[in-house]
Amino acid sequence: MVAGAPAAGQQSPRRKLVVGNWKMNGDGASNAALLAALKAAPGGEAEVSVCVPAPYLHDVSKALHGSSIHWGAQDCSSHESGAFTGEVSAAMLAEFGCCHVIVGHSERRAMHGESDRLVAEKAAAALAHGLVPIVCVGETLAERDGGKTEAVVGRQLGAAVDLLAKRIDGIVVAYEPVWAIGTGKTASPAEAQSVHAFLRKLLADAGAASRTLRILYGGSVKADNATQLFAEADIDGGLIGGASLKAADFIAICQAAG
Ligand code: 13P
Repeated sequence: MVAGAPAAGQQSPRRKLVVGNWKMNGDGASNAALLAALKAAPGGEAEVSVCVPAPYLHDVSKALHGSSIHWGAQDCSSHESGAFTGEVSAAMLAEFGCCHVIVGHSERRAMHGESDRLVAEKAAAALAHGLVPIVCVGETLAERDGGKTEAVVGRQLGAAVDLLAKRIDGIVVAYEPVWAIGTGKTASPAEAQSVHAFLRKLLADAGAASRTLRILYGGSVKADNATQLFAEADIDGGLIGGASLKAADFIAICQAAG
């Protein structure tokens, strides 16, 4: 993809961003084929990035070097270095040219017991090394049904706001309702917009540059629902799981973002 120039007078204060979260998928051959297809696709106005398993960062950085597509990782340690077996530091990710790193994905919160505070510390570590942390928040179905969506996502993002203070302007937020991830159930554009507007107000009230801070939606985004989701006023793009593994689907979602 080669980025197209935004048409004069049509620049939004927030350029749309579409990020592929490959999760624990792929191998050398399938990654190479996917990236070749992405690179060959005509670019649009949206910024595009792929967050890949750490062992593939070397290959991905070589494959995407010189293209307009950014790359990143799916997690980082909150620590600088030391005896943390299995962890990967933000400094290491920066060495591989990463632009983004996802922190606080619901799969890590649920399966690895990551707390709101730890997620905020990971975001701080990423920022300290020049990476853009994509801070994920989202409620479970039980929390939504219990009317707790705003309380949950407010608490999750609030931890980052408190720890990062002025540095909060350097993050990207991803709203990913847990019940919509990998289930084929997408939040309706109106449901997602409502939570995005709540998050933007929370950021504004905290003194963040809420007009420019991007809030992505994630959870069963597909080529056929992306256009409507991205048309909402406070949805600035998407964090894409399953559909980011299929070149045609991911390209179509990127094109839906402009
Ligand atoms: P799906 O797009 O597969 O629902 O996954 C969303 C997600 O978890 C992205 O981080």
